Formats: sequence, C-alpha cells, structure tokens
Amino acid sequence: MFEAVVRDGIVLKPLETWHADVFAEHMNRARDHIRPWVGPAFVTDTVEDARATLQRYATAAATDGARLYGLWDDGQIVGGVMFVAFDPAWGICEIGCWLEPDAVGKGLITRSVQMLMDWAFLERGMSRIEWRCRTDNDRSVAVARRLGMRSEGILRSSWVYDGNRYDTEVFSILRNESLSTARL
Ligand SMILES: CC(C)(COP(=O)(O)OP(=O)(O)OC[C@H]1O[C@@H](n2cnc3c(N)ncnc32)[C@H](O)[C@@H]1OP(=O)(O)O)[C@@H](O)C(=O)NCCC(=O)NCCS
Repeated sequence: MFEAVVRDGIVLKPLETWHADVFAEHMNRARDHIRPWVGPAFVTDTVEDARATLQRYATAAATDGARLYGLWDDGQIVGGVMFVAFDPAWGICEIGCWLEPDAVGKGLITRSVQMLMDWAFLERGMSRIEWRCRTDNDRSVAVARRLGMRSEGILRSSWVYDGNRYDTEVFSILRNESLSTARL
C-alpha cells in the first residue's frame, strides 16, 4: 500500500474498511473536538458506524469520487484529510480535514492538504478545489488561507449544530493559482 511521509514519522495513507477498529478508537479521542465543525454523519459512536463511514468512502472511491486518507502515527490514526467531493468531469473537488486534539498545532493538515491539492491539480488535471467551513472555525480558515485559497463568500445560516444555525465560508483555489503557491 502507498504511504507518504507528512513529517516527524507521521504518514498519510488511505483509510479502508478493514481499519474500522482503529478508526473507531481514534473517533473516541476525536469525537468531542470535531463534532461542532464536521458533518454529523462523520462523527460516529460505534465500530459498526465507523465501518459504515469507511465503506461509504470506499464505494465513492471505486467510482472515482470522494476519498478518505488517515494520518497515522505508529499504528494509531490521529486525524486525516479527504476529498469530500471529487468530480473529474467538471474538474472540481472539495477537500476536508480533521484531527484529534493532541495532533493539532503541528502542521500536519496544511502539509497533507497540499499533497491532495498537488495530486488533484498535477496528476488528475482538476481545475478548482473548494474548502468549506464555519466562519468561526478559525483554525480551518487559517489552513485555507495558508494554502493560498481565496474566500468566495458566506453561505448565511447554512450550518446547523446543536440547535443553532451558523454561517459557512467557501474558499477555493484554481490550478494556475496553486502552481505559484510556495510549497510547505
Ligand atoms: C481544522 C484543524 C484540522 C486544523 O488543525 P491545525 O493543527 O491548526 O492545522 P495544521 O495541521 O495545518 O497546523 C498548523 C499549526 O501548526 C503549527 N506548526 C507547528 N509545526 C509546524 C510545521 N513544522 N509546519 C507548519 N506548521 C507548523 C502552525 O504554526 C499552526 O499553528 P498556529 O495556527 O497556532 O500558528 C483542527 O483545528 C481540527 O481538527 N479542528 C476540528 C475539526 C475541523 O474543524 N475540521 C475542519 C472542518 S472544515
């Protein structure tokens, strides 16, 4: 199986259905931290539901759609990145990410997302990559800006969490903009 070194011994490699047990253990460490910021279907409580997430992505990847990659530290998952959506016909994809609390602040996501961007633009010829997050998700906004993404506007009252509504900011980067972005 392929894996890419991100930094400090942490590697990025695909998450597959047979990783359900270790993915569920990771979710136990990450759940409370990520719940306000990611889609509710991604935050699971059981091994079976964790496996269902992995199966959903595996099915999408089989048709050249969404894909899921884990950040691995010596056999443990500490977070990951994904193509939330991947449309080669239109040349558009969306990237997302998450980390468990102990992995925050180490530069793992910026570097990993850059790897996905390089693959999407250079190997797959995509034209546009999107990034969506709650406007008050400062760390996610910082990742988008660090990678040279441009804010395209706010989807007002488009995110629901715990009975409250929040705004979503949409960022994007185009292929010609990415090629001139400094590598991290
Ligand atoms: C969004 C999220 C993944 C970002 O994590 P992050 O650790 O801030 O992002 P990175 O991995 O790119 O790390 C950047 C940080 O590492 C620091 N860093 C440390 N060593 C570094 C290195 N060698 N290279 C680059 N940055 C480094 C940077 O200075 C930066 O910290 P700062 O913002 O305090 O200055 C994380 O906050 C999270 O899991 N949030 C909850 C889930 C979520 O919001 N998902 C996204 C939904 S849209």
